[in-house]
Amino acid sequence: MSDCPERFSALRIHAGENKQTLAKLEEIGLDDLSDGDVVIRTAWSGINYKDALAVTGSSRIMKNLPCVAGIDVAGTVVSSEDANFKVGDAVIACGAGLGEDFDGGFAEYARLRSGSTVPLPTGLSLREAMGIGTAGFTAALAIHQLEHNGTRPDSGPIAVTGPTGGVGGIAIDLLKQRGYQVTAVTHRSGQEDYLRSLGADEILITSDMEFGPRPLEQALWAGAIDNVGGDVLSWLCRTTQQWGNVASIGLAASHKLSCSVMPFILRGVNLLGINSVYPPQEKRLATWARLASDLRPSQLANIVQREVELKQLPEVCTEYMENRNQGRTLVNISGDE
Ligand SMILES: NC(=O)c1ccc[n+]([C@@H]2O[C@H](COP(=O)([O-])OP(=O)(O)OC[C@H]3O[C@@H](n4cnc5c(N)ncnc54)[C@H](OP(=O)(O)O)[C@@H]3O)[C@@H](O)[C@H]2O)c1
Repeated sequence: MSDCPERFSALRIHAGENKQTLAKLEEIGLDDLSDGDVVIRTAWSGINYKDALAVTGSSRIMKNLPCVAGIDVAGTVVSSEDANFKVGDAVIACGAGLGEDFDGGFAEYARLRSGSTVPLPTGLSLREAMGIGTAGFTAALAIHQLEHNGTRPDSGPIAVTGPTGGVGGIAIDLLKQRGYQVTAVTHRSGQEDYLRSLGADEILITSDMEFGPRPLEQALWAGAIDNVGGDVLSWLCRTTQQWGNVASIGLAASHKLSCSVMPFILRGVNLLGINSVYPPQEKRLATWARLASDLRPSQLANIVQREVELKQLPEVCTEYMENRNQGRTLVNISGDE
C-alpha cells in the first residue's frame, strides 16, 4: 500500500445548479481518485489557461464530475504498479487527460497513468519543471514544428501572440535563444519592459494595429506562434511570407478563424496545428529532454511571477480569465525541490 495519508487536500470541481460548476478545496482519500498505476506526493503544479477555465467554471472542460483540477503536476512516487517507476522517483505529468478526463494535479497526492508519466529530466528540479509545465512543453512543440517545416533564424522574424501569458512568454525566450528575431503581438500596453526582458525585439500592441481587409497583406513573418486565434490568427496567415509557417496553439481571444485560402495556395503558407495534450509518449519524452537541454528556458525566473497555495486558486484563476495575469504561476503544494 502506498505511503499516503488517509485524507489529503484537493481542489475539486463539482457539478452545480443550472449546468454551473463549483470549485471546492476539500479533504479526500486515495479511493476518491480515478484509476492509475503510479501515486505521487505532489510537490508543485502550475496554472494553465485550461485550469483557469475549469476552476472558474467558465467552460466545462471535465468529462466527469467531481474531478480534481490541474493539468500539470510534479512530485515523488509513493507507490507504483509499473516497474519503470519506483518509490522515490521524481516524475512529471502534463496533459494526457490529467485534470480533464481524470483527476489532476491540484491535490497533495495524485494518481497518474504511467503511459504518460515522465521521469524528471536530469538537470531540472521539480519546481523548474512546473515553471515550464504544459505552457513550455507546448511552446517547445511549436518551435519543433516550425523548424521541422523549414523555419530558420535567417528566414525572417517570428511573431508571437499572447506574449504576456505562459506559452507566449516561454516561446519568446526559446526563440530568442535560438537566434530568431522575435516580434511580440500583445493586447496589453505597459508590458514592453517585461517582453523585452524575455527577448522580444519588437512589440506590437493590437489596439494600435491595422489588420487590413485584404486576403493577402504585406508579407512580414517567416513564422508565427499564435495563442489567441480569431482575427489575430487570420491576420497572421494573411501577413506570413512565402513558405512561412504559422503554429496555431490557442484560442484565448476566439476559437474562430476566418480567412481566404489565398495565403495557403498563393504563398504556400503552412498552418500547423499544435496539440500538446496527447502526443505519442516518445515525443513527450524527447520534448522534455530538449526542455532540459537545447530548448531549456533561460528566463524562467522572470516568467514565473509568483507561487500560490491550493486555497488561492479560485481567486488567481479569476485573474487569468480577466487577462490580469502575467507569465506563469506556480502552485506550491509540498514545495519539495
Ligand atoms: N494546443 C494546445 O495543446 C495548447 C496547450 C497549452 C495552451 N493552449 C492554449 O494556448 C493559449 C495560451 O495558453 P497560456 O497557458 O499561455 O494562457 P495564459 O497564460 O492565460 O495567457 C494567455 C494570453 O493570451 C492573451 N489573452 C488572454 N485573454 C485574451 C483575450 N480575451 N483576447 C485576446 N488575448 C487574450 C493574453 O496575452 P496578451 O495580453 O499579451 O495579448 C494572455 O496573457 C490558451 O488558449 C490555451 O488554452 C493550447
